[in-house]
Amino acid sequence: MTRDWTPRSWRAMPVKHVPDDYPDLHALARVEGELSRLPPLVFTAETRRLTESLAQVAEGKAFLLQGGDCAESFKEFTIDNIRDTFRLILQMAVVLTFSGGRPVVKVGRIAGQFAKPRTSSVETIDGVTLPAYRGDIINGMDFTPAERMPDPKRLLKAYHQSSATLGLLRNFAQGGYADLCNLHRWTLDFVAGSPQGDRYRRLADQIFESLCFLSALCVGPEQQRSLHQVDFFTSHEALLLNFEEAMTRREHPSGDWYDTSAHMLWIGERTRQLDGGHVEFMRGIQNPIGLKCGPTMEPDELLRLIDVLNPHGRPGRLTLIGRFGADKVSDCLPRLMAATRRDGRPVVWSSDPMHGNTLKASNGYKTRPFDRILSEVKSFLEIAGAEGVHPGGVHLEMTGQNVTECLGGAQAVTEDDLSSRYHTHCDPRLNADQALQLAFLLTEKLQTLRAPQARAA
Ligand code: PEP
Ligand code: CO
Repeated sequence: MTRDWTPRSWRAMPVKHVPDDYPDLHALARVEGELSRLPPLVFTAETRRLTESLAQVAEGKAFLLQGGDCAESFKEFTIDNIRDTFRLILQMAVVLTFSGGRPVVKVGRIAGQFAKPRTSSVETIDGVTLPAYRGDIINGMDFTPAERMPDPKRLLKAYHQSSATLGLLRNFAQGGYADLCNLHRWTLDFVAGSPQGDRYRRLADQIFESLCFLSALCVGPEQQRSLHQVDFFTSHEALLLNFEEAMTRREHPSGDWYDTSAHMLWIGERTRQLDGGHVEFMRGIQNPIGLKCGPTMEPDELLRLIDVLNPHGRPGRLTLIGRFGADKVSDCLPRLMAATRRDGRPVVWSSDPMHGNTLKASNGYKTRPFDRILSEVKSFLEIAGAEGVHPGGVHLEMTGQNVTECLGGAQAVTEDDLSSRYHTHCDPRLNADQALQLAFLLTEKLQTLRAPQARAA
């Protein structure tokens, strides 16, 4: 593609899932102007560090753990929510690092994950039809005409909430909370008594002993840093392009453009059209980007998207996030992986076992069976092994809260339980117990898949 790119060149292309019914376009333009003058949420040096870390993942030397809410909300913006999701990611990363023997790149779906694509643009209840809820950055969830009207002020509120969330995350990551010496304290109360809690405690004991051993050896300052602080990155779906455009800044002296709303952005399954505005916007920013790949993605199409999004094969630039469903992954993924392997440009392959496994329970709740989630992850690992591709990571919707949104898991959430703590603003999330169970299963599977290779070496 040779057309000139600017942060607003996407406006000339067809764009899906972006609202076109703001009642006052002047008010929207004023807000966009204000956003473009506000400080960046993340810094370009951090963003480049994430690209470097993802390049390690693409080489098979690290693992990507990306997770958080399906949709953040204004109402559930509390320090407890942010800290609990952060510590769940730390716990899972500890499990994966210690048992997997590779560094884990930690990326939250957080501090900006506010806009949602919706299958239907309207919702009808008892004969009344209103615009669908599209995420707190666009409109409100309550089923009233006023709430469902897109409101530009919400963009500013999302910016300020993201900024405050990032402040907390930086503090947790760098200010002592993430110190490995605290790893016993990260267990959430409601997980403490579960089999996952016990298993985590035993692992934590083992790590603690190793830490005492390491400090007796007096490791150097750089290694010391990695024991006491973590790098934690943010990401969200780049859906609301006028927000992303307003947050895009030119770096000096390189002249490169970065979207400073998050370290990593991804293109959703519904907005990955080659000639669409979302692909156009994403091709011009230098951030590491993700691309959701669902059941309809064909190898040719994927290679053409790579031509546009990462023509020169910059390592760490592109993460392909497969989200097929447990029943479709074996049909769809092998040929896509074979295509990228033959192509040779480095990519990270990651698995989102959430979005292809959603169903409606008999009582009407949107849910996801934990068994199917595990099954898709296992298939992903096996297919990657068979195709000679590094299974680079997972992309999860999860929360540190004790919710009952996905069915199953060790604490066996049933259909009847769904109503008791169903809090998500969009899709059902794993609770901390289910997420930790998934991390343990992932390490077991990674170990068994690696064992034959290790013996052969
Ligand atoms: C999401 O990640 O919340 C999402 C909508 O995913 P997908 O684009 O894969 O459907
Ligand atoms: Co979702």
